[in-house]
Amino acid sequence: MPTPLYDALRSYADSGPFRFHMPGHKGIIYQPSDLRWMAPIDVTELPETGNLYEAGEPFDSAQALWAELFGFDQCQFLTGGSTMGVHTGLALCCRPGDRVLMDRSCHRSAFNALALLNLEPVWLERPWLKSENLPGPISPGEVERALEEHPDVKTVCITSPTYAGVLSNIGAISQIVHARGGRLFVDGAHGAHLPFLGLAPFWGADVVTVSAHKTLPAMGQAALLFASGFDPDLVRRTASIFGTSSPSYPMMASLDVVRDWMVRWGAEKYQWVAVQVAELRQRFPSLTDRPYRGFSLDPTRFVLKVKDGPAFVRALRKHFYVPEMEDGGHVVFICTCQDTGKAIPYLADRLEGLRDMMGDCPPIPAPPIPERVISPRQALFAPSRVWPLEDCEGEIAACQIAPYPPGVPVVAPGERISKKELAYLREIGYNMQSEVRVIET
Ligand SMILES: Cc1ncc(COP(=O)(O)O)c(C=O)c1O
Repeated sequence: MPTPLYDALRSYADSGPFRFHMPGHKGIIYQPSDLRWMAPIDVTELPETGNLYEAGEPFDSAQALWAELFGFDQCQFLTGGSTMGVHTGLALCCRPGDRVLMDRSCHRSAFNALALLNLEPVWLERPWLKSENLPGPISPGEVERALEEHPDVKTVCITSPTYAGVLSNIGAISQIVHARGGRLFVDGAHGAHLPFLGLAPFWGADVVTVSAHKTLPAMGQAALLFASGFDPDLVRRTASIFGTSSPSYPMMASLDVVRDWMVRWGAEKYQWVAVQVAELRQRFPSLTDRPYRGFSLDPTRFVLKVKDGPAFVRALRKHFYVPEMEDGGHVVFICTCQDTGKAIPYLADRLEGLRDMMGDCPPIPAPPIPERVISPRQALFAPSRVWPLEDCEGEIAACQIAPYPPGVPVVAPGERISKKELAYLREIGYNMQSEVRVIET
């Protein structure tokens, strides 16, 4: 299988050039030895190595192989994570001043994109899964209702899968959006592996970003943007606005070789991991698939239900097991194609000893929707001060106040922190002694 970008870098390094160009290490990093291996292929834009933001080889071939695999017209390598993908994706789909139908549980990169691109959110409700204490999938019906209520809105932005692995039906949502002449952007940061499991979680979307570094064996920050129906040059130019002009070649080469490795071996390993995770889900109290209720999950994301998240993680870490995160009532384990062999059975043995700490956490109600006072852009760039949360009644937030659980911001930038929001935060046990950033008045 071809790895065009990596091959170009290797062949340049092997030709033994006298390097009078960036980076300053000139292909040799002496210390420490674990950085030494990648120095020879850490290069810059040269005729042989191409330019990420221009048409030409070896990027055209390397990116086209990914685009084909994911079923999109175009793929753009990103060196700034899905953060860069969210900014690029929304910039491609919107014009400054547009209103966007947006999932309130989106990542902070999306809130920042609203401010950077001067967009106005129209919040899309996620159903609250009471039995799970988590937000569920976005329903196509809810998107349809919201677009009927706000006919001027032409862009829809949805996070799928969520951190907990909850998938929305992107195919059905895209049909609704396209029937109204709109565009669908999907933040699929946590779903780079799903197409390798034979799933089509992004089918129908116009633009999608995925973090290869989160769930594939790629280097930190390596991510991908997929787009269909756009001028390829516009996609490259838009991405370049949000990225460094010196993108890391080892990081991009990792995207090239990881695709090849996944097609050859990784996909099969991932299938095996999905079977292991299904067994974990049966054995321990955890989030499970309910496709018949329109609620399906990433088959490899293991979300354990616990009575006290911080205590559980402390106990687990005593045995050197480190999960991705805890949100009070759940502990999230990211399982990938690297977790073959005994990794998951050993984790299961370890969890067995912590059974007493598992089960449902106290019920969490869905968060209220606060009053919007100023735009996300005004809020992000206004003078602000840090203030004790307990004394914030009536203040306008300059940041997200987003406790875990539920992971959905109770207050977003530009919204009023009123009695109702403070009461909710108290009710779910949020640390009211913490300080938050509010607009200077
Ligand atoms: C849903 C979601 N979107 C985007 C991002 C940003 O991804 P990255 O860290 O690759 O920039 C994250 C990071 O955790 C995320 O959870």
